[in-house]
Amino acid sequence: MEKTINFTVNGQPVAVVTEPERSLLEVLREDLELTGTKQACGEGKCGACTVLIGGKSAAACVTPVAAAENQAVLTIEGLAAGDKLHPVQEAFLAENAFQCGHCTPGMIMAVVGLLNEKPRPADADILARVDGHICRCCGYPRILKAVKRAVAQGARQS
Ligand code: FES
Ligand code: FES
Repeated sequence: MEKTINFTVNGQPVAVVTEPERSLLEVLREDLELTGTKQACGEGKCGACTVLIGGKSAAACVTPVAAAENQAVLTIEGLAAGDKLHPVQEAFLAENAFQCGHCTPGMIMAVVGLLNEKPRPADADILARVDGHICRCCGYPRILKAVKRAVAQGARQS
């Protein structure tokens, strides 16, 4: 049965009338037209659909939209402040850490989530966080350089 789910996306309040079991990913992409969050495996195994819920990273493809009720959801579209990119986005650009870009929003959101939890993560923390993220273009060396650049710059955003 449909119900109204209230939450915020990138600081804006939304009220979505939907089946509570629908995935947050589907609601973001289809109902709210926020297509920056990517779909790939659809099984919570590749990280492409990572968003932040209450500042913590989550795979939106396996997160029911009901789990976002009364929470603050942050997607890649909400990271930049106007024309100013988030420092993690800047780091990915500076290191050319993408090719097709399909994995990039999820990677960036995961790193932002990590930095929310640990502003100065150790290399092991970084590896553990991006470990489950699949880049089909195999851009891992540049992605890691970008993450380390972002960490060195002390990037942080809730
Ligand atoms: S699309 Fe969600 S984890 Fe792969
Ligand atoms: S840049 Fe293509 S999947 Fe990662």
